[in-house]
Amino acid sequence: MTGRIAELRGEAEAAIAAAATSAELEELRVRYLGRKAELPNILRGIAALAPEQRGPTGKAANQARQALEALIGQRAEQLAGGELEEQLQRDVVDVTLPGAPPQPVGHLHLLTATRREIEDVFLGLGFRIAEGPEVETVYYNFDALNFDVTHPTRGRADTFYVNDDVVLRTHTSPMQLRAMEAEPPPLYIIVPGRVYRRDSDATHTPQFHQIEGLAVDEDVTLADLKGTLLAFARAIFGRDREVRLRPHFFPFTEPSIEVDVSCFMAHVPGERCRVCKDTGWIEILGAGMVDPNVFGYVAEYGYDPERIQGFAFGMGIERIAMLRHGVPDLRLLYDNDARFLEQFG
Ligand code: PHE
Repeated sequence: MTGRIAELRGEAEAAIAAAATSAELEELRVRYLGRKAELPNILRGIAALAPEQRGPTGKAANQARQALEALIGQRAEQLAGGELEEQLQRDVVDVTLPGAPPQPVGHLHLLTATRREIEDVFLGLGFRIAEGPEVETVYYNFDALNFDVTHPTRGRADTFYVNDDVVLRTHTSPMQLRAMEAEPPPLYIIVPGRVYRRDSDATHTPQFHQIEGLAVDEDVTLADLKGTLLAFARAIFGRDREVRLRPHFFPFTEPSIEVDVSCFMAHVPGERCRVCKDTGWIEILGAGMVDPNVFGYVAEYGYDPERIQGFAFGMGIERIAMLRHGVPDLRLLYDNDARFLEQFG
């Protein structure tokens, strides 16, 4: 019997030493020391042996069991240590990797950004924002703005007509009248919005954007207009800018002016400036003092041309954006080519 015990012990010791995982070791424990295993069975059967065999058999079997238990315990510790080590290796965190990568976010379209910047300038000067309809009556778009019945822009070659009395507004100026009808003076508003003209080339699209300005009060002068536009020009084109007023004509202002801003490009001696063509000035908008005839259309709303004056101006947002950023073709603003748009984050 002791021979068999030695054989079992040898076999078990070899298997335990070769066990590669805790799970494998657990299987060996069951196989050699479990309830149905051979060695414990021998121990349980000691009483049935011949008296002279009981001593040596019991001793050998007990020693074998204790030795195997100790061996399994040792091996278990080794394996657990190795497995922990392995786990730690696997779970290692590289703290030098970037954290949650920033999500790509979009940004405003150049036109929207430009509009908001212009709005901010005038809000800072005390103007409010008003908006009006893009589908407008001939009355507000032309008649009440003092356009002569023969004025060429009334023609169907220049203007989109919905019917004989309704057009797509050709400018934001009709809101001058709507705003004055809505509340008495003093009035300080700007009107951003879309306008429409039958025009299409590198510097004209059938739909574009304007910002109108209107200031009406008891003592508003051309000097106030110039000061206001100078503040605007410096905010948008740089603090060293100057403005220049040139005589012009609009049916609804008298006098009417065109406003130039001093060129903001770096001039290289001997090279012609692309932007100002070496004149030193860039046209940015049309303006003037509100014609008393226009006030005549809203006199009943408190706009008595004998008591009040006003100035008005209108600028193209596309033009301002293109000048500032050197955009060569207006249509780039509408093509939705990300390679172009991404430059204006
Ligand atoms: N409405 C004019 C245009 O579109 C611009 C303008 C506005 C001129 C206000 C004078 C006063 O050309």
